[in-house]
Order: sequence, then structure tokens, then C-alpha cells
Amino acid sequence: MAEHLRKLFYPRAVAVVGASRDPSKIGHIVLRNILSGGYQGRVYPVNPNAEEILGLRAYPSVSSIPGQVDVVVVAVPAHKVLEVVEDAGGSGAEYLVVLSSGFKEVGRADLERGLVERARRHGMRVLGPNIFGYVYTPSRLNASFGPSNVLPGGVAFISQSGALGIALMGYSVVEGVGVSGVVSMGNKADIDDADILEFLREDPRTKVIIAYVEGVTDGRRFLEAASSVSLRKPLVVLKAGRTETGAKAAASHTGSLSSGPALWEGVLRQAGALQVRDVETAFDYAKLFSAFNALPGPNVLVVTNGGGAGVQATDTLAENGVYLRELPADYVSYLRTFLPEFASTRNPVDITGGAPDEFYYLALRRALEHPEIHAILVLYCQTMTTNPLRTAEAVVRAVEEVGSGKPVVAGFVGSEEVRRAISYLLERGVPAYPTPERAAQALAALYRYAALRRVVERRLEYLRTIGERTRLLGERRAVQP
Ligand code: ACO
Repeated sequence: MAEHLRKLFYPRAVAVVGASRDPSKIGHIVLRNILSGGYQGRVYPVNPNAEEILGLRAYPSVSSIPGQVDVVVVAVPAHKVLEVVEDAGGSGAEYLVVLSSGFKEVGRADLERGLVERARRHGMRVLGPNIFGYVYTPSRLNASFGPSNVLPGGVAFISQSGALGIALMGYSVVEGVGVSGVVSMGNKADIDDADILEFLREDPRTKVIIAYVEGVTDGRRFLEAASSVSLRKPLVVLKAGRTETGAKAAASHTGSLSSGPALWEGVLRQAGALQVRDVETAFDYAKLFSAFNALPGPNVLVVTNGGGAGVQATDTLAENGVYLRELPADYVSYLRTFLPEFASTRNPVDITGGAPDEFYYLALRRALEHPEIHAILVLYCQTMTTNPLRTAEAVVRAVEEVGSGKPVVAGFVGSEEVRRAISYLLERGVPAYPTPERAAQALAALYRYAALRRVVERRLEYLRTIGERTRLLGERRAVQP
């Protein structure tokens, strides 16, 4: 684990400077979130104008707190932040989490430099400024003014946009995708994406990382950190400022310099990151990678009760570089034992519109046991003769009985009842989506990730070879008279 950030994510005590008595103010909300989230460390409100806040004794300054503080959350106006840094400097705190706006993003780069210089002088690192805070569910720490009902799970978000980060937190609850961490990056005056990526790479609680990035200050460091993450776990990147006008918007948002889109695409590919264009796809991928990230063999089976859904999924898979293959002959013969004659047993297998849930169960169960079938896309279109929830139950029964660990991804299309079936599948670890295309695209992401990982492995291997050659050349020169 990246030791230098350990105390940021596992602090023994947190102080909130600017913890307001007013429930509508940011400093109050952050304190309330920390307390209601169940954080087990000590919590100190700091406010020279208050005696007690939310049942806790308030301190006039960080330096007056009797115990050790690891993290100081700062929620006072920008012009007071430097005083807070000086005061916190002697306390032994290691991290300042500066929520305050009013720095580089509004032309006050001088104030931002002063913040980092003073913090560094006192041995502290700065997260922010201009952020909504951070969340780390393994520590039950919600030091943010985002939503309080965070669902624990395996997805980590790093967001340069505060509003988008907060929206993602809400979306994760609605979509049932649990998070390990949410880190608002803001102006990245000191701690940057690479630092956080290095921590999350080693974090066993994080299965997949979604990063919203407008720009980075040290491109080479980002490339190296992202590459090392991609070798361990998927990194999904929403790169903002893909167009010239978008890049200008990013510059005025967090003061980031965003390079050209083509350059970024190249960097992200080199880093093995999965670049996505929208939040929906980022979440679709997160759902998939929360469930699986082992790289499957090439043979994907599509089972559907609707021919059109099967064709749409086949197209989407092919557009993403995944081509359906012929099914093993013994599997086809087995399907023939229970499917009607008019069913299609070629891949995609069409078990027909009136197929009872038992057909799904039988087709899936044998496929999960079959060594030559490596991943399954199961599609369902609601009809009056079928029941979506029972179909979902049949899928889960097959998956749980065989326990093969093979990727099974579902695309269920239909009404409100189908939504319930999707939730049922998600709760039982089967990534499920409301259209065949989204399900197919998510499954294809596993293969895209495998290919990107090979790009990183080859690049690193190449760099190692060059390094070795240079070393040998150097040795040879050294022994020459
Ligand atoms: N130390 C500790 N507390 C202090 C100090 C001090 N030196 N000085 C004042 N306080 C107290 C105040 O008395 C007040 O408490 P009270 O309400 O009980 O009297 C409290 O600290 C807050 O101070 P205010 O001056 O009332 O500041 P306010 O809460 O209005 O604003 C804030 C502070 C939130 C940091 C604001 O300046 C700011 O930057 N807002 C923007 C934050 C933001 O958007 N960040 C980006 C997020 S990303 C996104 O887009 C969502």
C-alpha cells in the first residue's frame, strides 16, 4: 500500500476547521457526514466562535486540540486558509483537505502556491483546494459535503469535477453500484491523480477505478501510475475537454491545461486505460468490473428469447472486436433435446419468444459447465407468456449451482417488472442492463481491457529491453581501453 497516503484514508483523528453551527453551511454538513457515516476515529470540530457543535466540544484552533490529528478538513473562506495552515502546521497533522474555492480557478495562483509551500514546510500534503472532500468506505469515512448514504463496494471514483463527483455518488446508490472511495481532486495543487491512483492500485477493497480527468500537470507521471494500475485492475477514464471548446471550459473550471484529444487518446491507450465518453458507460463498466476482472477465453455464447436482441448484441460485440464463434457440437445437440424445432441453435442461440425460464436455466447451466464456452450474454425481452423475475431467478440459479466464475452478463428489456429483475440480478452479482447493446458493450469491455493490458505489458517489456541494452552498452564502453 502507498504508505504516504495511508493516513489520509485510515486517519486516527480528523479535525474540521470551519465546522459551522449553521446546518446549511458546508462545514456543518461535512462534520455531520463524518459522524453519521460511522467513522470510528476521533473527530474534532474547530470553530473559534462556538462551544459545541453536533454534540462535540469545539476547539478554537487545530493547535489547541489535545490529541494527535492526522487529517484537517478546511472549510473556511480562501482568505483565511493560510492562517489555518500555519496553525495546523505545529499539530503534527499530515494532510490538509481544503474544500475552499477561490484559488487558481479564479486567478489566485499565488494564494494556491502559498498554501502548498506553507503546508510542505510543515510536512503536510494538500488535497484540493476547491473540492467537495473525500469518502473511503473501508474506514467508514465520509469527509465530504456530498450525499450521506454511500453504498460500500468495490468502485473508486477520482473526480476533478466536484459536481460530477457528487452526482456519481448519488448515481451509485440508484444503480446499486457500491463504492470503496470517492476523491474530489479539484485544483490538484499538490496531491494529484497519480498519487491517488498509486494508493488505489494497492487497495484490496478497490476492484475498478473511474477517473474523471480534465487535465494533468505531470503527464509522464500520470502515464506511469495509470499503466501500473491497468496491470492490476481496470481504470476507466472519462476525459473531459475532448473538443477545443470543452478544453477551454475545463481551463476555466479547475484551471487545468488540457492537451489535444488525439494526444490524450494515445496516452490513455498506452496506459491501458479504458476511455469512455459518458457517465452511463463508465457506470456500465464499473458494474461489470465489480463482478469480474479475470480475462475470459474467446468463446462468447449469446442466449436470447428475441432474434432482434440477439442480432443487436452480435453487432455491438463485433463493433467492439468480439466475434461470435460456432458453438461446440455437443452443446448444440444438447440444446436440441429441449428446444422447439423452430428455435435457432446457432450462436446467438434463440430459445424463442415463449421460452419458459427453465430453457434459460438449462441452456445456461450446461454452457457454464462446458470448457469451450468462456463467457455468456443472456438476453431477455419481456413477453406476455414469460415472467422477468422468474427468468432472472433461473439465471442466478444456474450461476450459483455451477459456480464457475465465468462472466455472465444480462440484458433485460421491458417494463417496470424488468427493472425489478435487473435489480435482483445486480444484487446477486450478475451485471445486468436494460438493453442488449449496453450489456454487449459491457461484456466486450472485458476483452478490451485484456487487449489494453497486453499493450501495457508490451510497452513495459520494450522499455525494459531498451534499458537493458543501454546498460550493456554502458558496461562495454566502460571496459574498453
Ligand atoms: N477557524 C475555524 N472556524 C472559523 C474560522 C477559523 N479561523 N473563522 C471562521 N470560522 C467559522 C465561522 O464562524 C463559521 O461558523 P459559524 O457559521 O458557526 O459562525 C464557519 O467557520 C464557516 O465560516 P464562514 O465564514 O461562514 O464560511 P462559509 O461557510 O460561508 O464558507 C466555504 C466557507 C464553504 C469554504 C466557502 O468559502 C467556499 O469556498 N465555498 C465553495 C466550496 C466549494 O464549492 N468547493 C468546491 C466543491 S466542488 C463542487 O462544485 C460541488
